[in-house]
Amino acid sequence: MASTPTFKNFIDGEWISSVSRETFENRNPADREDLVGLFQKSTPDDVSRAVASAKRALPGWKSTPAPRRAEILYRLGQILIERKEALARDMTREMGKVLKETRGDVQEAIDTAFYAAGEGRRMFGETVPAELPNKWAMSIRVPVGVCGLITPWNFPMAIPSWKLIPALVCGNSVILKPATDTPLSSVHFVKACEDAGVPRGVVNLVTGSGQAVGAPLMSHPDVALVSFTGSSEVGRAVNRACADSFKKCSLEMGGKNAIMIMDDADLDLAVDGCLWGAFGTTGQRCTATSRIIVHRKVLAEFTEKLVSRTKALKIGNGLDENVEMGPAISEAQLQTVEAYVEIGRKDGARLLTGGRRLSGKAYDRGSFFEPTIFGDVKPAMRIAQEEIFGPVLSVLSAGDLDEALAIANGTVYGLSGAIYTRDVNTAFRAMRDIEAGIFYVNAPTIGAEVQLPFGGVKQTGNGHREAAWTVLDIFTEWKSIYVDFSGSLQRAQIDTSTHTSGTSRD
Ligand code: UN1
Repeated sequence: MASTPTFKNFIDGEWISSVSRETFENRNPADREDLVGLFQKSTPDDVSRAVASAKRALPGWKSTPAPRRAEILYRLGQILIERKEALARDMTREMGKVLKETRGDVQEAIDTAFYAAGEGRRMFGETVPAELPNKWAMSIRVPVGVCGLITPWNFPMAIPSWKLIPALVCGNSVILKPATDTPLSSVHFVKACEDAGVPRGVVNLVTGSGQAVGAPLMSHPDVALVSFTGSSEVGRAVNRACADSFKKCSLEMGGKNAIMIMDDADLDLAVDGCLWGAFGTTGQRCTATSRIIVHRKVLAEFTEKLVSRTKALKIGNGLDENVEMGPAISEAQLQTVEAYVEIGRKDGARLLTGGRRLSGKAYDRGSFFEPTIFGDVKPAMRIAQEEIFGPVLSVLSAGDLDEALAIANGTVYGLSGAIYTRDVNTAFRAMRDIEAGIFYVNAPTIGAEVQLPFGGVKQTGNGHREAAWTVLDIFTEWKSIYVDFSGSLQRAQIDTSTHTSGTSRD
């Protein structure tokens, strides 16, 4: 196909081919005959060149005043605004989620640009009193160094932006390794960085597999930090790879997010929330609603409403504005979903709707699966415990809030949770007792905004929070500085004549 575009890596300010001279294909998951483009099948050598470029660029970028760095990021936000529609269309084509959502994905990158650029004039350190006279005590944030960013396919621009933009405002240089299913959005994003005036070498892009690109990035001695979003399985390997050289490592992984629906809830509102939470992005969000825990008193009524609305969802190519749910990202992902449906059946859950791949003219060239709901799900079943990353929702039941919370908290994950209730006391008890990094009242488990910390507890993460002001803790180190202007030697903890230490002094 002569007209298929070939996209390059971006290293040291140049768009260049991999040393392998090989490429891989990126196809539209709604239509496998639509070849989106060819991308560099990079090697560890390409990674070394990218790291060397980031290392060379670091001193200049680090010493650029943060407000100046931020000006470039404001321009980046503006460029993304101008290109939003085209970027969203290309994202739907490479990834499948509907246009409304890909526009939201680009918007999240725009929001991140403007929010994080503001840090260029904040990035607060703390100044505290010193215990000795004529002495000053303060702390400042300093960049970590060369950062490796490894990103997933479900938010092809938002998640790279959550990492890359704060990394830059903090004065780091980066190598971005996007998922092989969605390299195009990263090419667009990095192009926007180049056009915004990010200096040569500060941002590098290397496309290719986890093995050939991700692994060498994680083990490279000149990479000081790895930031990863993806599955817990891969996250564990990233964690291990970073442990050997004590790299800073931030991990954002799976979820098994639950909505609790109480007997006093507005059921129609809750149905809207469940549909959006479970089937938005075809269920392929780490924050996706994959369990609902419904109060027994309203279980039958609620389930009936939910199932009938689910059956009416319009599935298809996300470029069609009327479509509500697009395809699975790949055939492999669809097979995982199929396998979980089988597991659910075998474990004794009752299939209420869906459960099959879609076929027929509109679907045969893509990876489409019916929105699926299981009833009679018990908390210990695998479909109620494991992340599926597809349009499969499990319905569980509970007799009261405590039981609902015990079920909600009864997995290894802790990303996001939600409750529907009209009782403020119930809402506050749930807010207090949920084991999750993000919680919603009368809204589903998806839809985090960039100005609050994003991340989870337990096996969802390793204690870091992206977005908001907390992302600065990932991309900076603290430096504590003492300035003694007394002109004489003063010894902390010792020359402190007014101390009340318990022992009397002369
Ligand atoms: C993800 O689930 O992978 O909160 C990221 C949300 C989006 C980001 C989700 N703003 O649903």
